[in-house]
Amino acid sequence: VNHLIGIKDVTREDIELIFKTADSFKDVINRPIKKVPSLRDITIANLFFENSTRTRLSFELAEKRLSADVVNFSAASSSVKKGETLVDTVNNILSMKVDMVVMRHPNPGAAKFLSERVNARVVNAGDGTHEHPTQALLDAYSIRERLGSVEGKKIVIVGDILHSRVALSNIFCLQKLGAEVMVCGPTTLIPKYIHELGVKVEHNLRKALEWCDVANMLRIQLERQDIKYFPSLREYTMLFGLNKEILDSLDKEIIVMHPGPINRGVEITSDVADSKQSIILNQVENGVAVRMAVIYLLAGKIER
Ligand code: CP
Repeated sequence: VNHLIGIKDVTREDIELIFKTADSFKDVINRPIKKVPSLRDITIANLFFENSTRTRLSFELAEKRLSADVVNFSAASSSVKKGETLVDTVNNILSMKVDMVVMRHPNPGAAKFLSERVNARVVNAGDGTHEHPTQALLDAYSIRERLGSVEGKKIVIVGDILHSRVALSNIFCLQKLGAEVMVCGPTTLIPKYIHELGVKVEHNLRKALEWCDVANMLRIQLERQDIKYFPSLREYTMLFGLNKEILDSLDKEIIVMHPGPINRGVEITSDVADSKQSIILNQVENGVAVRMAVIYLLAGKIER
């Protein structure tokens, strides 16, 4: 593939190549000099039309650790505010000899739309409720690191599946790697088409946790007032929030994940988020190596 728009478009072999490449970059970033000179001839623009902490910094660090030149663009302080279109904005940036674009955008399909209209490699850093492919890759990579492989593992994704790009990309990625996937949440937050994706559905958190090896707790999107957390946020927490009492009552030690940012005390309590069963910060650490691998492999397809 020439772009990374979604996990739907990549094969198991592509994912395994990304992981193998990320393994060697993980060694690199644990050395005193955390850089390789591989992409000294490449310039990358990070375009963020939506807020981000982890993804934005992780891509920037990944690019710098590969020795690429990096420019950062934030929509809030740009001429997009004066009415410039997305394609015009990107073509202006590309005319400054930029080779690759990493873009987060609030609208589903924005990354694909751009990839079909500009002459650069495009990496989707999250497009609305559609996909967040590098998040799914780093999540699966972190499961592989902790459990040895993803194949045959049982993973439950808990929370707002309907509005979550992380859920959709994770479902595609985990299934391609041979995992069994379940989603758990209130009926109102599970999409009607879920059965077409071949995942199990459970509305009882305890039953879901008893089934799984790994629980990936999704963020409640407090900034999106249009999402109605049914019946109320407090009841959501009572029914679907992960706390230490439930975790300790299981007859096995499951692994707890969260893509971040966390709403402590809403979808997950602090004592779970900070417990030894949590790999939340390992996910963030692995994000740099995985994004280095994605960028390095896509850069290999740029004509020099
Ligand atoms: N997980 C994630 O995408 O976090 P940010 O929104 O901070 O990038």
